[in-house]
Amino acid sequence: MENERNSILATAVEQAAESVMITDKSGIIQYANPAFEKISGFTRDEIIGKKPSILKSGRQSAAFYKTMWETISRGEVWKGLLVNRRKDGALYEVEISISPIRDESGAITNYVSVKRDVTEERRLEQQLVRAQKMEAIGTLASGIAHDFNNIVTAILGFTDLVIDDIPEGTKTRRRLGYVREAGLRARDLIKQILSFSRQNDTGRKPVKLAPIVKETLKLIKASIPATIEIRQSISSDGRSVLADPVQIQQILMNLCTNAAHAMREHGGVLEVSLTALEFESASYFPQPGMAPGPYFRMTVADTGCGMDSSMLERIFDPFFTTKKPEEGTGLGLAVVQRIVKSYGGAITVTSEPGKGSSFEVFLPCITAGEKGGETVAPSVEKGSGTILFVDDDPSIIRLGRDLLRQLGYRVVTSRGAREALNTFEKNPHRFSLLLTDYIMPHMTGTELAREAHKIRPDIPIAMITGLTQIPTKGEMKSAGVLEVALKPLTMEELAEIIKRAMSRT
Ligand SMILES: Nc1ncnc2c1ncn2[C@@H]1O[C@H](COP(=O)(O)OP(=O)(O)OP(=O)(O)O)[C@@H](O)[C@H]1O
Ligand SMILES: [Mg+2]
Repeated sequence: MENERNSILATAVEQAAESVMITDKSGIIQYANPAFEKISGFTRDEIIGKKPSILKSGRQSAAFYKTMWETISRGEVWKGLLVNRRKDGALYEVEISISPIRDESGAITNYVSVKRDVTEERRLEQQLVRAQKMEAIGTLASGIAHDFNNIVTAILGFTDLVIDDIPEGTKTRRRLGYVREAGLRARDLIKQILSFSRQNDTGRKPVKLAPIVKETLKLIKASIPATIEIRQSISSDGRSVLADPVQIQQILMNLCTNAAHAMREHGGVLEVSLTALEFESASYFPQPGMAPGPYFRMTVADTGCGMDSSMLERIFDPFFTTKKPEEGTGLGLAVVQRIVKSYGGAITVTSEPGKGSSFEVFLPCITAGEKGGETVAPSVEKGSGTILFVDDDPSIIRLGRDLLRQLGYRVVTSRGAREALNTFEKNPHRFSLLLTDYIMPHMTGTELAREAHKIRPDIPIAMITGLTQIPTKGEMKSAGVLEVALKPLTMEELAEIIKRAMSRT
């Protein structure tokens, strides 16, 4: 009977999923079960007769172990979390309880420790925390975005206007140019932050990568020191990618800025290449979850300081940065990865300390049959006709009126949708275009569009919207809105959407 019970106990311990280890009173290991072998990587032969300190990772202090020993030698159970080292050197985290075993007289003869590997659990927990952090940032960002965008709209818009009034070559004009540049940077920054909260695909259209890459490289050239040589090899087979050109620019800018920073001390070579390639269904994918088919590969390689493997693990984490606060936020690569993933693409990196780094971005092409678009170079052409401009914010109304006049249009402004409808109803054929804000009190831009179309079905309608609340394609289509532009607008963009909307009817 006693024997049978003992053998059941022994089998149970042998087969338990938890790692079980028994030591004598002085801590010498006398027994370990197979789960222990599996978790620690040591065989029983290797550890029996040794001390548990063979598993020490160095992550806990001497004081930590001292309290542990004091607790168990007092005859109490010790419970806690600790990090151990496997035989192969890898660290793992365990939840552990150590209990004293006593003989009939009550004296401690042995200790038994039961451990559970919680490494994976911890990893998932951290991932969750990170996801929640990102969500919080997203919410915060969209909260301030609306107001901030209106402010930048006014700064950029009025600067555009004033610049045109000042003769070229003057100091003032040059200085205003700097104001405009700073305004554009502010706009890019807010777009960058908002890429986190924005999940929809507004702004995506078929684009050819080669021209965007070339354009962006021109901008980059202007901003990096001469000690860095740029080599480019851009080839494309005419296929397109379904993407937002601004985001493509963002990807390239972020990667090149990082590369330039890595080479700022000793100079070097920045190599940017674009090639088309095909992933067969059976081929090796750079990242799991990618669909087979045609892709573009964009490579940004530098000969800078490089990174070691522990750094490579963290570079895509939001806010991971090795730069000074004024030099970087640590969002660059997080944004890049987010964009690339949302396109069904992948990003990989190889790097060696002291030798340099190479980032490869894979973006899926649109397959045959789908029409490719082109990127249009901005050029401001004067227009004609009368535009009904609607917004609820007086400073935007003033700006809109001035910008539109500058572009050659006659302008009637309305504050809010109701006022606009009244004006429109009185003489609907007087207007060549209705240009309205999206979010307004009482009535949204799309609702206004519907009402206006009841009065005059063929009136072209374009809309301007903040980055935070963007109408869906379905909503726009059903309301008959032809074009949507995101705030803050520049004069070129405004000219562009008006022209497109007017030509589409
Ligand atoms: N090409 C590179 N060579 C060496 N280190 C790099 C390279 N690219 C990125 N890193 C490292 O990865 C970190 C994170 O890059 P990331 O672009 O996400 O943020 P950042 O450049 O520090 O800040 P931000 O892009 O927001 O201005 C950098 O601080 C840098 O240490
Ligand atoms: Mg960066």
